[in-house]
Amino acid sequence: MNDPNAPMYYKGVYHLFYQHNPYAATFGDTIVWAHSVSYDLINWIHLNNALEPSEPFDINSCWSGSSTILEDGEKPSILYTGIDENKHQVQNLAIPKNSSDPFLREWIKHTQNPVMKAPIGVEVNNFRDPSTAWLGNDGKWRVVVGAQNGDEGKVILYHSEDFVDWKVDSIPFFATDNTGVCECPDFFPVLIDGENGMDTLSDHQDPNFIRHVLKISYLSKLHDYYFLGNYNALGDKENFVPDVKFTGTSSDLRYDYGKFYASKSFFDNAKNRRILWGWVNESDSEQDDIEKGWAGIQSIPRQIWLDKSGKRLVQWPIEEVENLHDKHVSIIKENLLSGSTLQVSGITASQVDVEVVFEIPELENAEWLDPNGVDPQILCSSNKENGPRSGKIGPFGLLALASEDLREQTSVFFQIYKTPNRYVGLMCSDQSRSSLREDLDKTTYGTFFDIDSTQKTVSLRTLIDHSIVESFGDEGRVCITSRVYPSLAIDKNAHLFVFNNGSQSIQISKLNAWSMKQAQIGYEGNIACV
Ligand code: FRU
Repeated sequence: MNDPNAPMYYKGVYHLFYQHNPYAATFGDTIVWAHSVSYDLINWIHLNNALEPSEPFDINSCWSGSSTILEDGEKPSILYTGIDENKHQVQNLAIPKNSSDPFLREWIKHTQNPVMKAPIGVEVNNFRDPSTAWLGNDGKWRVVVGAQNGDEGKVILYHSEDFVDWKVDSIPFFATDNTGVCECPDFFPVLIDGENGMDTLSDHQDPNFIRHVLKISYLSKLHDYYFLGNYNALGDKENFVPDVKFTGTSSDLRYDYGKFYASKSFFDNAKNRRILWGWVNESDSEQDDIEKGWAGIQSIPRQIWLDKSGKRLVQWPIEEVENLHDKHVSIIKENLLSGSTLQVSGITASQVDVEVVFEIPELENAEWLDPNGVDPQILCSSNKENGPRSGKIGPFGLLALASEDLREQTSVFFQIYKTPNRYVGLMCSDQSRSSLREDLDKTTYGTFFDIDSTQKTVSLRTLIDHSIVESFGDEGRVCITSRVYPSLAIDKNAHLFVFNNGSQSIQISKLNAWSMKQAQIGYEGNIACV
């Protein structure tokens, strides 16, 4: 599998469609829309494929797209990219055969497809991934589509009165130089205050209460970047103006500083929240994928909202994850001396949800760093031979999926620095010793985050599940996801530790860890665990 497509909540059921090659565990020439449904976003029922290549407008694949629920929540629709008979990318519309079926098992392709063809100034093979649509004050639908023209990446805007006849806006909704194609654009409002989500369809557009987010998956970087900014919908120029321009450096905002791509969000009106899905690809070799028979997974769904600072989004695993909590252990007020390692015993370390709050020493004691021009990912990777380099406050954090002798470990950790005008935290996920196997991608990931001068603690929540380590730092303001394939630290031989390699002691203010039960995932009529 690759991209998540058209997530939605409809008639009490969550739907996830996704890009899927039915013939091999690699990307392929025939991509279909697989379809699964769930009542809680955790346990899933696989249904038949929702969209398969069948017509001249999608005969060579059904690529990514999104859902929009029309007519007062009663009529779901899908806009998706078809690879047509000429291998051009076009946009198509599909609607359910029977919208009273909560599982929306069958989809009908509209007779007027394709509903959009690459306009002038857009390459025919770089025109894809329509977003969820929204209604403007003029009663017309809007949708954005990812595109490219030469080196310029574009997000282009379409209008329609009836959802079938679409007209392109001559001014790009958003554009970036030297980036190449913009894949999977996602555009949605966020509340300035609070954790509730907002429907893309909401007509409540008062800039005193809301901001807008535009997310772009840049293929050239294989990362999902998001911009906070203003949606200008009045006047003759309708576009999105980001607060901060794209720089192509580590200072750009990303949902996740590890593996997380082609993500898509949706508004869940059952719980009034916005939920984000992302595709997490393999670190394993393609040959292994073929032997395993599968490749690619979806992240645990994340609730997203605007941070109080207004400068970034916060992401947190949806609360339903806690339904999988099993055996619980906790550690309260434990001092971690310099150079110490403490095992978290009594849980299944290969499948665990762990949250730890570290009390940090006086920030004044932090090591000096001028972060200008420093790439955090490189800082995280330094001194690989001996593990996380020792500093003053940190590195401290977790050793996930560790073998007993620590020869294998994935370390997720923080280091705190004093800079010319503020304090910054560095969050890293170091995969370099995650496996004794050598044929794996073991890139180390990292990012900086702001530390408030009055801040006394820093938190880390990590979801570990055999080959995936999803980490939420500083209460979800910074996230890093990695894929690892240990050769020793498997099942019962996996261990979890807390460590401190900094010269200053750190206190664990509290740590809670839960073994995680298995989710129920199966085919319709056969919901046994697979
Ligand atoms: C992103 C992407 C999309 C495309 C789909 C094809 O990963 O390349 O742009 O629609 O995957 O599977």
